[in-house]
Amino acid sequence: MTRGDNKVYLRGLIEFSNICRKNCYYCGIRCDNRSVERYELTDDEVLAAADFAWRHRYGSVVLQSGEQQSPAFTGRITALLQRIKAHTHNEVGITLSCGEQSEATYREWFDAGAHRYLLRIETSDRELYYKLHPNDNKHSFDARLEALNNLKKIGYQTGTGVMIGLPFQTMQHLADDLLFFKTMDVDMVGMGPYLEHKDTPLYRYADKLLPLEKRFELSLRMITALRMLMPDINIAATTALQVLDPEGREKAVMAGANVIMPNITLPSVRPNYQIYDNKPGLHDDAGGTLSTLENALHKAGITIGYSEWGDSKHFKPHSVAG
Ligand code: 5AD
Ligand code: SF4
Repeated sequence: MTRGDNKVYLRGLIEFSNICRKNCYYCGIRCDNRSVERYELTDDEVLAAADFAWRHRYGSVVLQSGEQQSPAFTGRITALLQRIKAHTHNEVGITLSCGEQSEATYREWFDAGAHRYLLRIETSDRELYYKLHPNDNKHSFDARLEALNNLKKIGYQTGTGVMIGLPFQTMQHLADDLLFFKTMDVDMVGMGPYLEHKDTPLYRYADKLLPLEKRFELSLRMITALRMLMPDINIAATTALQVLDPEGREKAVMAGANVIMPNITLPSVRPNYQIYDNKPGLHDDAGGTLSTLENALHKAGITIGYSEWGDSKHFKPHSVAG
């Protein structure tokens, strides 16, 4: 399948904090899970990770965290964005994945140098959404849609995504998810298998799920179908795929994905970012993870777009008046 170029782009994933105000029923770092040790990397640690990405010719980094909403958090991210941009002479692209925020906050971060934002819808079906989240104002489906629309309006390359193989999820839901991406006209999609976590409310349905190999297969099929539906967007080969198959990400690339996000978070805090059980790469150091991945991609005949931002070819910047 052709996408104009056949390159895969690398984003260094920095999970800088697992503190989260939300209580999504599927997620291991939900705020009610008291067995998680909460952490927040220092600015210098985040900068060191971004520096690592830059030196290893990753085109960009993704700053990901649980959802926090406060002026202090907003200001901290703004300052971090400016520092990373200055340190790397604007060579490293920055994607944010820090949950729902006000339009003003999204705008402030955009102005500080973030140009892509990931906010998964998790499922495009409102009813299913409320089986996966508490039905309260912290977990509003409409607020999530509004956040996605705000991101687009501000001028971010906007990414969303869903989990595949969720309890109560049907094939119809998944087909509708693909149509949702198309109708929303998003620039990037990250989707992967749902993986149960024992300290979450959804775990009680663990015996009703598709077998893991079916969830894996279905995820690859979703990637291929989406690639046909939206030939020029960026599609991520997600870490959750790697849990089910050590070569999961490479297989996802063969199925149509063109972005890989190796985890470059400090190994010492990685065990605390367990959104699902058996998350891979917990003990690798970032350098080791990368060379293994590079070798595997090389063997599969896949070219890496080194030092390129790898923007979504689908994205059209807003036309400037005049
Ligand atoms: N299985 C798979 N993906 C999960 N996420 C959170 N919990 C799980 C889980 N148990 C995904 C969500 C979220 C992203 C950061 O991680 O889609 O948006
Ligand atoms: Fe928080 Fe995201 Fe986990 Fe929901 S999925 S509990 S918002 S980290």
